[in-house]
Amino acid sequence: MKLQNLLEHRRSVRLFSDKKSIPPDDIEDCLRQATLAPTSSNMQLWQFIHLVDSSWRDGLTKACLGQKAASTATQWVVFVTRQDFFQSRAKFLLNFEILNIKRNNLKDKQTKRIAHRKVYYGKLMPLLYARFFRLLGIMRKLIVLIMGIFRPVVREVSETEIRTVVHKSCALAAQTFMLAMAEKGYDTCPMEGFDSKMVKKLLHLPRGTGINMIISCGIRDGNKGIWGDRCRVPFEEVYKRR
Ligand SMILES: Cc1cc2nc3c(=O)[nH]c(=O)nc-3n(C[C@H](O)[C@H](O)[C@H](O)COP(=O)(O)O)c2cc1C
Repeated sequence: MKLQNLLEHRRSVRLFSDKKSIPPDDIEDCLRQATLAPTSSNMQLWQFIHLVDSSWRDGLTKACLGQKAASTATQWVVFVTRQDFFQSRAKFLLNFEILNIKRNNLKDKQTKRIAHRKVYYGKLMPLLYARFFRLLGIMRKLIVLIMGIFRPVVREVSETEIRTVVHKSCALAAQTFMLAMAEKGYDTCPMEGFDSKMVKKLLHLPRGTGINMIISCGIRDGNKGIWGDRCRVPFEEVYKRR
């Protein structure tokens, strides 16, 4: 399918066929494709929990407020934000970047670029993603407020704003996943109608993690799970060319 056809074909399906199933490896493959989504500073602060066994159904449906999109699905993927992984991810990226620079840059440029990466992943990222009862966010806000007097700065650095940054990237992975699924002829329903506390308890997720979206997976049963025509506000309302 061409991208245009894929986008038109993908719908939020709220009732799946009980006769057709998806090989779990296909979903895993789509999740592998989802990791190719862009992510802020390439930090990849996400985790995809792929629930294959039908024993998850009851608990998950309850946590998803009884939605049919959850109860009739054959598998589910919970997109989890892992801001708590910031240190290990930054370390991983720094190691990668040092080797990457050595492989792909001229010798005379390497030292400066490596030094830049050391500051970026070694100091800046840990400073940006750390949390401590909002206090670190307030400190970062004060720093950018002062810096902002002299030059352009990224101002969204409070703990709440950084949490949004992490969710933003995770949602891009979720969308990439849904398109990959559509390309294979499979259906999905993204859900944020859930009790996050219940989901975290069910999956034994630690504090500091967030549930970005739960995507139920299955195959549509004709048009039964599609709630009528697609609705979009007029394009002129959302598109401004200047
Ligand atoms: C972040 C997010 C959360 C959503 N949560 C739910 C949900 O809990 N239950 C549901 O049935 N649909 C949910 N949807 C699906 C939207 O209602 C759906 O995308 C929208 O109505 C447009 O329909 P379409 O996806 O078929 O184009 C969600 C979509 C997004 C992006």
